[in-house]
Amino acid sequence: MRKNIVAGNWKMNTTVAEGVALAKEVNDALAQNKANCDVVICVPFTHLASVAAVIDQNLLGLGAENCADHTSGAYTGEVSASMVASTGAKYVILGHSERRQYYGETSATLREKIALALANNLTPIFCIGEVLAERENGTYNDVVKAQIEEALFDLSAEDFSKLVLAYEPVWAIGTGKTATADQAEDMHAHIRATIAAKYGQEVADNTSILYGGSCKPSNAAELFAKPDVDGGLIGGASLKCADFMGIVSAF
Ligand code: PGA
Repeated sequence: MRKNIVAGNWKMNTTVAEGVALAKEVNDALAQNKANCDVVICVPFTHLASVAAVIDQNLLGLGAENCADHTSGAYTGEVSASMVASTGAKYVILGHSERRQYYGETSATLREKIALALANNLTPIFCIGEVLAERENGTYNDVVKAQIEEALFDLSAEDFSKLVLAYEPVWAIGTGKTATADQAEDMHAHIRATIAAKYGQEVADNTSILYGGSCKPSNAAELFAKPDVDGGLIGGASLKCADFMGIVSAF
């Protein structure tokens, strides 16, 4: 059966020293209070190796926030999936709406990134979600279905089964405006049905689908209680150990 997962997305925050301290704090908190779900932190590239050295990945998984769409070579400033894996990281967020919006990532780029992540034994946490205008004009189910079909439906069932999905309505990210638990559940059920139609019910039932967008200790329990919400991808609230642990303990 699918796993429940709470994953932090630190985005472009913390120095290496601050990040190492935060990672240690979360790791120690998990050593004291065993979580009832998998817990992951996704951190800037510069932090990965240092964080890997101070955490116990049996307690706290480690991931990157992105990787390159090429294997290696003359791509100044890019960081490849194999480089990420060489730090000890096991996860990589791909297709975050901020990458799509500010760095022009398309489904075509994301297909390359997913293939490279999988080839390097990284678990992609693949993000999908509609913008506010799409929520308001009622096209959100079609938008999210198209994001999944375009980027993921070339995968074999075996490869698809290695993914974690994260539904992140763009209007809820960093805005303090959370989707209601019912809105999240409706979309997660739609995503699972979309997967089932392509790969069958068993693959769909085994896929973890996280919710992201202003998830915090005060609303996590209600969101995670929904049958198709299998955890959260946490931005702002992952930068304070107490808040992050408050969300983890919602399971
Ligand atoms: P937020 O970000 O929790 O700060 O809204 C979530 C995300 O972008 O992954």
